[in-house]
Amino acid sequence: MKLFRLAILPLAGLVSLSAQTPAATLTLHADQPGPVINKNIYGQFSEHLGHCIYGGIWVGEDSPIPNVRGIRSDVVAALRQLQVPVLRWPGGCFADEYHWKNGIGPRKDRPKMINTNWGGVVEDNSFGTHEFMDLCEQVGCEPYITGNVGSGTVREMMEWVEYMTSNADSPLANERRRNGRAEPWHVKYFAIGNEAWGCGGDMPPEFYADNFRRYNVYLKNYPGNELYRIACGPDAASYGWTDKVMAIAGARMNGLSLHYYTVKNGWNDKGSATEFGEPEWMAILGQTLRIDEIITNHSVIMDKYDPAKKVGLMVDEWGTWYDPTPGTNPGFLVQQNTLRDAVVAALNLHIFQRHADRVAMANIAQMVNVLQAMIMTDGPRMVLTPTYHVFEMYKAHQGATYLPIDLSTPDYSRGDAHIPVVSASASRDRNGLIHLSLVNTDPNRPIRVACAIAGAAPKSASGRVLTAPTMQAHNSFESPDEVKPVPFTDFVLSGGSLAVTLPSKSVAMLELAP
Ligand code: AHR
Repeated sequence: MKLFRLAILPLAGLVSLSAQTPAATLTLHADQPGPVINKNIYGQFSEHLGHCIYGGIWVGEDSPIPNVRGIRSDVVAALRQLQVPVLRWPGGCFADEYHWKNGIGPRKDRPKMINTNWGGVVEDNSFGTHEFMDLCEQVGCEPYITGNVGSGTVREMMEWVEYMTSNADSPLANERRRNGRAEPWHVKYFAIGNEAWGCGGDMPPEFYADNFRRYNVYLKNYPGNELYRIACGPDAASYGWTDKVMAIAGARMNGLSLHYYTVKNGWNDKGSATEFGEPEWMAILGQTLRIDEIITNHSVIMDKYDPAKKVGLMVDEWGTWYDPTPGTNPGFLVQQNTLRDAVVAALNLHIFQRHADRVAMANIAQMVNVLQAMIMTDGPRMVLTPTYHVFEMYKAHQGATYLPIDLSTPDYSRGDAHIPVVSASASRDRNGLIHLSLVNTDPNRPIRVACAIAGAAPKSASGRVLTAPTMQAHNSFESPDEVKPVPFTDFVLSGGSLAVTLPSKSVAMLELAP
């Protein structure tokens, strides 16, 4: 039995707990409101990789697939349902080979390049700055641009910022106007490089931090636009990177990125996205939960240099990474998405919310057709993944006030491996509605959860749940509704307390109204 925080209230009599069925207890502290959950925790990432951009988002104006200015309408409509707050682009590793000037002006004249990181395919630059900004406007999200440090120049990055955000009568701003955009765009989030410790230049932290300072000087805040400057942060548990970069450049940045992928057993043993059993279920959930400790440890290091927590930790790449779907280009990182991925998404979102004081953004990798995608497409067809449904169910948490939870839960155990059965997170929105999200990680058994609510006495409750008969359940083009949320009624609200029975391997979202 794991106890998270202290002070579990006595709950005897709240719900009759059978001796055979494991039970968890929690106290939701509506009386101890925490920080606002940054809506950007629900951010997305779109890279020039496989069919994320080309085919998944961009089909071109002449496509028979319905589109607005070349951007497919079905995908935009689905993304609008998620209330995507922010979208990262153009990479990823691609960002450090991307030269933005090749992606503006008449498309027929744009130079081509080889996408050396992802399949060696020829990139024709038909999706560039104007198309990306149009995508953000259609989706209703903020852009987050990653600049090229690895193979670019200070001047190139400086000019990109001017091109996008200056309203001056300058050659670059006028070029933007000639290319069809009169007003400057509002660009807040701008990263100086990606994975500088790897595909972004293979730099030691001191060298990168010095470069961050140099590039940063030349990225100007043009009137009406203030950049939120994001430095390249660590890979997973590379704490030395965080320490060095914070020491040298911490005072000059607004955010520091963190990348953490959930990989079953190292990069050489990633396993199948769909063909797995209970050992792999446990392995993936165990690996994903490690991000909690990783965030905590990076936060402690950041606290040394930034005790006021002004620098946000931006988890701008996260999610599951499996072996590519057989028969697909391995460089395209195509993988299916099962109920297991939905549980992974929910667990991560709970962790990010618990770290709301430091985690200012998170961008799941990636939005369409790549890694732990929201959406998969095949020509004109589109399917929503179980992960999409978690993001849709959880959107009520965006921008709401975090409410702490004391949780006592049994473990789900297999051999030497143990993880908590229940994960929970709660928030209160502007209208006073409390949202409580719950996960049951046990693939075999339901669990009863007795919830006391301190500081609020809700009068009514409603809910939705995402589950399926098997761990491997997923949506396909032929069968798109195998995993989708349905109304959830397996709870009793009485005297301001809640007794919930969570089905095995499920994610539930409850709304409690005053
Ligand atoms: O998301 C796929 C790749 O993973 C990104 O391009 C890179 O930043 C990371 O290594």
